[in-house]
Amino acid sequence: MTFAGVKPSGSKREIYAELALQAKGLFEGERDAIANAANLAALIFGGIDAINWAGFYFLKRGELVLGPFQGRPACVRIALGKGVCGTAAARRETVVVEDVEKFPGHIACDAASRSEIVVPLIARGRLVGVLDIDAPIPARFDGEDRKGLEELAALWLEASDPA
Ligand code: SME
Repeated sequence: MTFAGVKPSGSKREIYAELALQAKGLFEGERDAIANAANLAALIFGGIDAINWAGFYFLKRGELVLGPFQGRPACVRIALGKGVCGTAAARRETVVVEDVEKFPGHIACDAASRSEIVVPLIARGRLVGVLDIDAPIPARFDGEDRKGLEELAALWLEASDPA
């Protein structure tokens, strides 16, 4: 296993490139979806600045159920179409919210959250869950974050056998 967990520095692009390398190292030889999700949540939480939650929700019996994460305890079940997570899952596209207070239906798990990005996880056309990152400052996530987080989500999908 490649040593991972050293916080990368540099431009956002460089940081995400380094995190992608570390993720590949962590996933090498391991296809367990939960184990890989747990490591990716920890890698993201420790690897990028100014975030207060990073983790997964998995689609189970038609609703999103909390998976591995880092941060404060969170709501366990989210219906498709509800909140930022349920919206990204229903649309099957990444949703970036600059100000969660202005997003209708936002589910406040951690009162500190001000902005959020949710990347849907789609394995061979099947929605398996979402990757959700929250920040305690408004407008934390831009196009570079979106690209970097979508790449990390794609690496997890390639490397893991979702349940
Ligand atoms: N804010 C999310 C709920 C999950 S927590 O942020 C961890 C939403 O509106 O879907």
